Parts: sequence; C-alpha cells; structure tokens
Amino acid sequence: MTIPKTTAVIGAGTMGPGIAATLSRCGSNVRLNDVDSAVLERSKAATELASQVLGRLDAPEAPGGSVSFELDLEKACAGADLVIEAVPEKLALKREIFARFEQAVAADTILATNTSGIPISDIAAELAHPERVIGMHWSNPPHLIPMIEVVPGEKTSAAVVEQLVATIKAFGFEPVVEKEVPGFVENRILYAILRECVSLVERGVVTQADMDTAVKWGIGYKLAVIGPMRLLDMAGLDIYQSVGSYLNRDLCNDAEVSSFITDKTAAGKLGMKSLGGMYDYADQDDVNANRARIAAGLVAVRKTLSAL
Ligand SMILES: NC(=O)c1ccc[n+]([C@@H]2O[C@H](COP(=O)([O-])OP(=O)(O)OC[C@H]3O[C@@H](n4cnc5c(N)ncnc54)[C@H](O)[C@@H]3O)[C@@H](O)[C@H]2O)c1
Repeated sequence: MTIPKTTAVIGAGTMGPGIAATLSRCGSNVRLNDVDSAVLERSKAATELASQVLGRLDAPEAPGGSVSFELDLEKACAGADLVIEAVPEKLALKREIFARFEQAVAADTILATNTSGIPISDIAAELAHPERVIGMHWSNPPHLIPMIEVVPGEKTSAAVVEQLVATIKAFGFEPVVEKEVPGFVENRILYAILRECVSLVERGVVTQADMDTAVKWGIGYKLAVIGPMRLLDMAGLDIYQSVGSYLNRDLCNDAEVSSFITDKTAAGKLGMKSLGGMYDYADQDDVNANRARIAAGLVAVRKTLSAL
C-alpha cells in the first residue's frame, strides 16, 4: 500500500475534512464519518474548501479519488486499507472506537490515530492487534501543513511504520518518525515557546503585539527556512554554549499554566471561538477575515518554501 485504495477518516470536526481532502486528491476513496449528522453535513463544505485550497497550491494529484460521507462507523471502515481516527482527545472514547475498528476491518488494515499526545500504547493497550496501531499526527490545518509526525507505540510493528511513511511520502507530505514522548515533538517545541512568550508578556517585558512581531520575523521567518539544528550551525555552537550558559537558567520553567491564561479561560475568553482571547474580535466576520488572511499567508509561504 502506498496510496490506500480506501481510507476511513473517523471524526469530521476540525481535522477530518482537511485529512479527507488531502487523501482523496491523491487517488484514495475516502469515507468521512462522524457520529453527529449535523457535523457530517457541515463537513461537506469544509472538505470542498480544503480541496480548493489544495488546488491553489498545485498539491500532488492522482486520479480516481473521492470523498463520501457516512454516518455509520462500521460501514465507513468496511474494506478500508487505512483508518485515521480524528475524534476528540479522550482516551476512553479512542479505546472504544479502536475496539470497534478491530471488528470492522481486515487483519492487515493500519489503524492510525491523530491524537495530539495520548500515548499510542495506551490507545492500543486492550486490542488484539496492537502491532497495527500507530500515531499519525497531522498539524492544523491538516491539508496545508505538509508534515506528519509518525509515532509508533511499544507494540507497533516496523512494517506498519514503513508502510505509513511510504503512504505519507506518496501523497507529498514529509513524515517525521519519533519515539513516544508526551506531546510528541512538535507540541513540545511549541509549548516551550508559548510558555516563554506568555511569561514575557505577563511580566510586561514586551506588549503582546510586539511579541507577535518579534517571533514572526525574528524566529518564525528564519526557522521556516532552515530549522533549529541548522540554525545552530549558522549561529555557531560556541555562541549557543556561551549564551545558553547564562540564559537557560533565566527562562520560564513554570510547571503550571500561568494565571495570565487561566484567568481569561475562566472568564470565557477563549480566543477566536469566543470573539476574544489575547485580542478582541468585533464579530464573526472579523474572525473569518483573520482566518482567511492566515490561510492565504500559509498558502503563499508553503508555495515559496516548497520551491526552495
Ligand atoms: N484541532 C487541532 O488543531 C488538532 C491538531 C492536531 C491533532 N488534533 C487531534 O485530532 C483529534 C480530533 O481533533 P479535532 O480538533 O478535529 O476535534 P473536533 O472536536 O473538532 O472533531 C471531532 C469530531 O469527532 C466526532 N466524534 C465524536 N465521537 C465520535 C464517534 N464515536 N464516532 C465518530 N465521530 C465521533 C465529533 O462529533 C466531532 O465532530 C484529537 O485527538 C485532537 O487532539 C487536533
């Protein structure tokens, strides 16, 4: 299997539609499933939108793919070569539906989870065939960020890792194979950065708007082109050693999430979804305009980076 002939994507919320669009564009017949019929109905437009964005990107394409929408999980899984689970981040729920997958698919079907950090071994713990269960962590928006973390659990077979890596390459994304650590690699880095950013804004060292400017241009722009390991080479390891020797001990290492954040969440200020968080949004149109600007920026940057 490189591009799976049939893929079941379970969960049609934030992540499912972009995942479905990516695979169908490369020739897979995708069945997108959700337990909620209203969500499944809404996911049709989201899948179409993601497909259009992939078209604007000139993303890799192969004929024969499709997306169908299926309320029944067992029907969605029947005959699938690959199942990708994208239901809410709750261990009990994931365990329950993986047990249902086992009953619904062939013995060699790969069962992948898009969990953001639940250990794969915990999801697979009660299954008869944990060797075919694997983490496949897409980044949001999934059709736009062409990197997927591949996380084998304790019992995942090497053959399953190899097959999933080949599949991800076949649809034009870059797989990153990792050992199982809490949060996986991407979120560990992101949360280390976010903790320091929140701390500096909370202490009044910099305004939040200036923080966004500093990180976007001073860090994001550079790292998008070269990555942190090559950045070390560019800066000089001796420089990192001398700066790190006094700076590391001054960096935020709080174990708890700052009250700067928890006070806002307690007050219902959750970000774009509640029209206010770190910034305020006038109305839903304002949120939509911000989201559109971000999506357009990601498309433009991805095109440029892909050409390098
Ligand atoms: N949102 C992100 O930025 C992001 C990024 C990477 C990974 N993830 C991970 O992906 C997974 C899904 O996240 P999301 O943000 O898409 O969640 P979401 O809440 O937007 O969507 C999940 C969907 O699953 C459906 N669902 C619940 N129980 C189900 C069942 N038994 N059968 C079928 N469908 C069911 C829900 O109705 C919902 O529509 C989570 O594990 C999350 O941690 C999310």
